[in-house]
Amino acid sequence: MAKNSLTLIDNRTDKTYEIPVQDSTIRAKDLRQIKVKEEEFGMMSYDPSFENTASCKSSVTFIDGDKGILRYRGFPIEQLAEHSSQLEVSKLLIDGELPNTKELKRWVQDIGGHSHVPEEIQNIVQAFPKDSHPMGALISLIAALSTFYPDAKNIQDKTENYHNICRLIAQVPILAAYFYRHSQGLKIVPPDNSLSYAENFLNMMFEGDEKKLHPKIVDAMDKLLILHADHEQNCSASVMRNVGSSEPDPYSAVSAATSALYGPLHGGANEAVLQMLNEIETKENIPTFLDKVQKKEVKLMGFGHRVYKAYDPRAKYIKKAADSVFEVTGTNPLLDIALELESIALSEEYFIQRNLYPNVDFYSGLIYQSMGIPTEMFTVLFTIGRTPGWLAQWKEFLADTDQKIARPRQVYTGYDSRNYIGIDKR
Ligand code: CMC
Repeated sequence: MAKNSLTLIDNRTDKTYEIPVQDSTIRAKDLRQIKVKEEEFGMMSYDPSFENTASCKSSVTFIDGDKGILRYRGFPIEQLAEHSSQLEVSKLLIDGELPNTKELKRWVQDIGGHSHVPEEIQNIVQAFPKDSHPMGALISLIAALSTFYPDAKNIQDKTENYHNICRLIAQVPILAAYFYRHSQGLKIVPPDNSLSYAENFLNMMFEGDEKKLHPKIVDAMDKLLILHADHEQNCSASVMRNVGSSEPDPYSAVSAATSALYGPLHGGANEAVLQMLNEIETKENIPTFLDKVQKKEVKLMGFGHRVYKAYDPRAKYIKKAADSVFEVTGTNPLLDIALELESIALSEEYFIQRNLYPNVDFYSGLIYQSMGIPTEMFTVLFTIGRTPGWLAQWKEFLADTDQKIARPRQVYTGYDSRNYIGIDKR
């Protein structure tokens, strides 16, 4: 009997099966040979919400959820946030290595060279109600890009893919800023490729506002984008891969991933945290709020994670980095409520038993708010940060010969065959 295997006995038939084990994982398809009758489909594994299913092999991002470790391509995110930049990290995620000076220069030029958003997009932006949610607009605008770049469908063409990767990284922040300016009734500010990625975005939003373009704010924005750049097989990255598996252009797939990110259980949590802190209003109201959480009437937004059963390293870093923003902006009055909420929650049995700690969204909104970013734009910032990660996951997916169109199975629980009944007999 091979050492790297499981021996399974099917008590229904007394048959024994040997299932190979690699990386502490069995192939679900190996279970299919287990059947009572030859004509059966064979055994499947049932895993709603994929709590224990690896959908791919990946070398992009590593998470140790028990120790609170996050690395991109082997590099700890704390080091990348401290020393790198969003564009350098994007290149690292997409190509697997830190670029040298020449490679980075070329990459930055290529991103800048793809920053011309089609003129007609401005007409689409104008058509959105000014008070609509920016995520709804961004999802549509990213999808709309596919109509201007029909060659993007040629996903087997690596040069074409490179252009579209550059274009998405360059244009997602521009689309976001276009919509923001429209929502405020302001003139669009074109991109300025002489600025860094983070500064260019802030400038397109807040041109002329020195405080909002302060170097410490720009630096914090760059760090926040890096911290959000990838997080392995989360809901939106899985959507990127699943949608990508039917082989549409990457604009359609990124638009779908953005939709997945929009929800309050995923990227939308940063906005929900701010709403929650505003509702709590004062420290005195925290015990009553936590009481409601424990009765499961509401969730403590910005807490808990499918993979982290320790403090989210991104939240730890953001909490530390917040001080530098508050030096420029003054402290955020909601910070005291957040700190007290965290401290009380972490000492309560409900949260201890379930290993619930602050995640990336708990403190990010407080910084964004202090930077003068409107609450509805928070998840848009998450989208800008995460776009390179989605593209890295997509590129890896395309090169993976193990992958085919994503098509889960189901356990059918409905009726057996029955005859149609005329409406007068129902
Ligand atoms: N507040 C209160 N209870 C919670 C929370 C929370 N934020 N998160 C989990 N729980 C409870 C949950 O009710 C369950 O309790 P029980 O065992 O009694 O049924 C237990 O903890 C395990 O939770 P789960 O729902 O099975 O965990 P999950 O892995 O399915 O969900 C999560 C993960 C992030 C969706 C969830 O923790 C959550 O809804 N958190 C709040 C929303 C949030 O902050 N999302 C951002 C996630 S990180 C960034 C990102 O992905 O974009």
